[in-house]
Amino acid sequence: MRNLSMIALLIAAPIVSAGVFKIPVESTPIDELKLAMDGTTFLPKDHLLRGVFYFGSAHVKANLIFDTSSDWVFVMDKQCLSCDPSNRLYEWKESTSAANSDIITAYNANYGQIVVVGDDVNDTVCIQNKFDYCAKNFRFLSVTDVSKKMLPMQGVVGMAPDDPKNGPSFVATLVDQKVIDKKMVGIMITGPDQGGDSTITMGGYDDTQFDKYTDRVVYWYKTTSDQLWQIPLNDLKFGNYTLFTDNYKRNAIFNSFFKGISLPSDMFKKFAELAQKQIRLTNCDQTTGFCRFPGLCSKQIRNLFDIKIQFGDVQVYNIPAKGYVYDSTTDEGYPECRYRMNISSDNNIVLGTPFLYNYYQILNYENNSLGLYLHQFSDSTIAPTGIDERTGNTGSGGGDNDNSLPPWAVALIVISILIIVGAIIAFVVIRRRNQKLGEQLVEYSKLEPDTSNKAKSTL
Ligand SMILES: *[C@@H]1O[C@H](CO)[C@@H](O)[C@H](O)[C@H]1NC(C)=O
Ligand SMILES: *[C@@H]1O[C@H](CO)[C@@H](O)[C@H](O)[C@H]1NC(C)=O
Ligand SMILES: *[C@@H]1O[C@H](CO)[C@@H](O)[C@H](O)[C@H]1NC(C)=O
Ligand SMILES: *[C@@H]1O[C@H](CO)[C@@H](O)[C@H](O)[C@H]1NC(C)=O
Repeated sequence: MRNLSMIALLIAAPIVSAGVFKIPVESTPIDELKLAMDGTTFLPKDHLLRGVFYFGSAHVKANLIFDTSSDWVFVMDKQCLSCDPSNRLYEWKESTSAANSDIITAYNANYGQIVVVGDDVNDTVCIQNKFDYCAKNFRFLSVTDVSKKMLPMQGVVGMAPDDPKNGPSFVATLVDQKVIDKKMVGIMITGPDQGGDSTITMGGYDDTQFDKYTDRVVYWYKTTSDQLWQIPLNDLKFGNYTLFTDNYKRNAIFNSFFKGISLPSDMFKKFAELAQKQIRLTNCDQTTGFCRFPGLCSKQIRNLFDIKIQFGDVQVYNIPAKGYVYDSTTDEGYPECRYRMNISSDNNIVLGTPFLYNYYQILNYENNSLGLYLHQFSDSTIAPTGIDERTGNTGSGGGDNDNSLPPWAVALIVISILIIVGAIIAFVVIRRRNQKLGEQLVEYSKLEPDTSNKAKSTL
């Protein structure tokens, strides 16, 4: 099935317009890649986005992993003795288009503690096919030594924002060489059970993937970091319970390389407490952030709330529980449901695939902003509900967007309503009295004095 749909995708891959192109990306199961960089970073049944690249005049083919939180492009060198033999790919000496500065550079990738050592090479790097979308004289790293954990990889293409402190940007080079018009990338990642294809659009974004129930609007957020796709986060809730513990504003970092949601330790603690309240057997390790409960996820999932995320506006992005738990087994072979959560190393929240599977992402390098929209295969929702339905919060992260009225206004409205209601009641009562009085006056004029007592008693 996978192969068939990949072929269909390759045939269908359209050129959206001049200066923009869309390419299919392979969503590769981790187990197939046998990656084991970090037990908590990579989880079973997770997928990584890989695209096809060609290096140098010999068109050496490599499947590179897209990573939005690092910058350099690197590919495994033919001379890399520590590399898996099947991944020993590129050699600058075999490429007539290479201009090697021949400096051995130690490069520290942004993920984990991994150091990549390689030759700093300039050569032609093409994406998708050998000729159409190429960055010429592009500087990248030809890796000559890898740590054991990276053995299954052929390389990585960094998609982090354009910053002089970052490595050379592949996207920026494509713009400089007029291969694409805009310094913009659209990313569609769909989960293994969602259907739909994962694609990357270079030079713009794909506007044909909107969920039909939405108003087809892209929500834009200004980034707060020069080096990461990071935007302000006003609130993050578990159901109706905010996980913010103070008024400190947090940031959300988007990372396609990460298969879960990372929370700062205070927020994680609150999440763990609330999750335990919902599912008593939930067990969380407060140092690693690893949470689980016995049994199948599906048996308990209705007791878990959606995670609700609000960035800098009133839109609330939902992640249903099924997006942040997965089925696994204990060492003894019993079913166990695990959370795709862990503790972040700082005060920021990292949003990986549980979020990205549901929302189309637009990286706009031109004005340092990130655009989001709900795509058609999403399991989630976006709703402009703001953040006013809070209960059980001990802090406010979203004061700016709080739609509720100040207390004096509420008091004024209540008083006004009381006055109006009072006036209406008084009016009705007085009217009825006057009516009765009028009737009685008519009767007085007709009746004998002895019946007037009866009339008076009704007043
Ligand atoms: C290699 O490419 C970088 C930009 O990617 C450029 O600044 C540098 O001058 C190039 N080096 C050579 C030897 O062409
Ligand atoms: C950035 O550019 C996009 C598209 O060109 C635009 O719609 C958006 O409003 C801009 N965002 C910001 C924060 O300036
Ligand atoms: C959250 O609050 C809203 C409004 O008070 C309510 O309709 C909804 O059911 C609550 N959701 C949860 C998960 O408690
Ligand atoms: C949680 O995941 C992040 C992102 O991959 C990783 O950097 C971090 O080390 C993990 N934290 C723990 C405590 O394992």
